[in-house]
Amino acid sequence: MSKGRVTSGMRPTGSLHLGNLLGALNNWVVLQEEYECFYFIVDWHALTTPGGGDAVGYENVVDLRSKIREMAIDWVSAGLDPNKSSMFVQSHVPEVAELHLLFSMITPLGWLERNPTYREMVLGYKIESPSYGLLGYPTLQSADILMYKGDFVPVGRDQEAHVNMTRDLAQRFNSLYGKDVFPITQALLTDVPKVPGLDDVNRKMSKSAGNHIAISFDEDETTAKIRDMFTDPLKIRKNDVGHPDGCVVYAFHGIYNGKELEVVRSECEAGDRGCVDCKMQLSGRMNEALRPIRSRRKELEEKPGMIDEILRAGAGKARAIARETLAEVREVMNLPPRKGL
Ligand code: TRP
Ligand code: SF4
Repeated sequence: MSKGRVTSGMRPTGSLHLGNLLGALNNWVVLQEEYECFYFIVDWHALTTPGGGDAVGYENVVDLRSKIREMAIDWVSAGLDPNKSSMFVQSHVPEVAELHLLFSMITPLGWLERNPTYREMVLGYKIESPSYGLLGYPTLQSADILMYKGDFVPVGRDQEAHVNMTRDLAQRFNSLYGKDVFPITQALLTDVPKVPGLDDVNRKMSKSAGNHIAISFDEDETTAKIRDMFTDPLKIRKNDVGHPDGCVVYAFHGIYNGKELEVVRSECEAGDRGCVDCKMQLSGRMNEALRPIRSRRKELEEKPGMIDEILRAGAGKARAIARETLAEVREVMNLPPRKGL
C-alpha cells in the first residue's frame, strides 16, 4: 500500500555525477518502494535563468534535448523503475502551465520577492532586469508538486523555502475556494552524505566547478580523476605522517569503503600508507560500486528508443492525473467546463 505521493524534479543538467547520485537519486530509488512517485525533468525551470558555459538556460538551449535524455538515462540506470515511478519531462504535461497561470493569480508578489533563491540567482548571475518567469519560479514549482497532489517532496535544504511556499499556496487556494483540493505538502529533508568536490573537501561536487566524477565516466576516467584528487599536501612520501581529515580521498573512502575506513585512517596517520596505493584502493571500490549502474547505462544508450518510451509512458500516467486535478481546480474556480476536462 502506498503511504502517499512523492513528487520531485531536477533541472536538466545532462549526465549526473556522484553528488547527484548519493544526494538525491539513491533516496528517490528508496522512496519508490513505499510511495507513488512522480519524478520529472524540469525543462521549463531551466529556461528561467540565462545559462551559459555548459548550463542550459534561455540564452543557451542548444543541448537541452540531449541533456534531458542523458539525465533520464542516469535516473533509470541508478535504479528508478518505470513500473514503480512515473518519470517524465515537465513540459510534456502542458496542464501544468495552466495550473501555473491560475496559481499566479493568487501568489502575492511579496512571497516571490522574499524568496531567497530568487535573490541568489539575481546576484549570482548578475541579472540586471530579472524576468517575470524567474520571479515566478516557485509558483511553477508549486504547480509541479500540487498537480500530482504531492504529499512529500524529497529535496535539499536549498529548496525548503519553495516547498514552504507550496504549502502556503495550497492553503490559500483551499481556503479561497472552500474545498481541500490540495494536500499540505511536506519537504523530506533527508540526511545525505556530503559529497565533496575532487579539489577540496569543503566544496560541493558540481558540474559547473568541474570537480566531479560523472556516472557516465568509464573506469579509467574515474581512476584518472581519483589520481588527481586533493590529498594532504604535507604528505609527500609513503612514510610521511598524513592528516586524513583534510583529504578528499579519505572522504570518499568514507562513502565507498566504510568497512576499511578505520584502517585507512590509522595507516595514514602512522605513515604506513602511501597516497598512490590509497587512491588505487579507492578506485577499485568506487568502480566496483558503479559497475552495475554503468552497465545499465550502456544498455540504454545502445537502445535509444527505450528511454523515449519510458518518458512517454511516464508523461501519459502523469497527464491522466493532471487532467483530473485541473478539472477539479477549474470546477471550484467556476471556470466553464471544456472538452476533455
Ligand atoms: N527547483 C528545483 C531545483 O532547482 C527543481 C524543481 C522544479 C522541483 N520543480 C520541482 C523540485 C518540484 C521538487 C519538486 O532543484
Ligand atoms: Fe589521503 Fe590516503 Fe594519502 Fe592519507 S594516505 S593523505 S587518506 S590519500
